[in-house]
Amino acid sequence: MDGALTPEPTAGVSAQSFREMFSGVAAPVSIVTAECDGRFHATTVTAFCSLSIDPPLMLVALARTSDMLGFVDRSRRFAVNILAAGQEQTALACAQKGTEKLSVVPWVERWGLPWFEASAGWLGCEVQDLLDGGDHVIVVGLVVDCEITTRTPLLYHGRDFHIPQAIAAPAVGA
Ligand SMILES: Cc1cc2nc3c(=O)[nH]c(=O)nc-3n(C[C@H](O)[C@H](O)[C@H](O)COP(=O)(O)O)c2cc1C
Repeated sequence: MDGALTPEPTAGVSAQSFREMFSGVAAPVSIVTAECDGRFHATTVTAFCSLSIDPPLMLVALARTSDMLGFVDRSRRFAVNILAAGQEQTALACAQKGTEKLSVVPWVERWGLPWFEASAGWLGCEVQDLLDGGDHVIVVGLVVDCEITTRTPLLYHGRDFHIPQAIAAPAVGA
């Protein structure tokens, strides 16, 4: 086998290499929303995926420094808004720190939580588990309600937002 294709195993990679590596992985952009003590909160994430069909589980990884983690831990429920093309400004607003970010983006309530109506998809989840994930916490959510639309999803790749041209929207119900 060509040695050039079999790099030496390494004990680890630098944070820079790790970031560089994952900046090249296209990921859908979502916003987690939650409520605690009458206060709503929203945080932009890409570390989100399905986990299990039976039972229906998903996971989202939240930084230990994320204020959202406290909301999810205390309230034990959250929603995930899978963003669509055109929601770039909403994604940027909810990637800020602070308590005022929901005042600069339009939303309505769904399942008692902030919902960005123009999203491509939506999940309502109950917290099943919080697991160690290094400097993040893996939030395992039991999906109790969900909806997908035919809107084109918003992707993040190369540290920028992209709208996929070649993805045909799935037929709802197919
Ligand atoms: C495109 C994008 C993806 C992000 N993905 C994540 C993620 O998966 N998990 C996470 O904890 N933070 C992620 N962030 C960073 C948070 O949105 C950001 O740190 C935010 O200020 C946290 O807010 P909070 O402390 O109010 O929860 C992402 C930011 C952007 C712009």
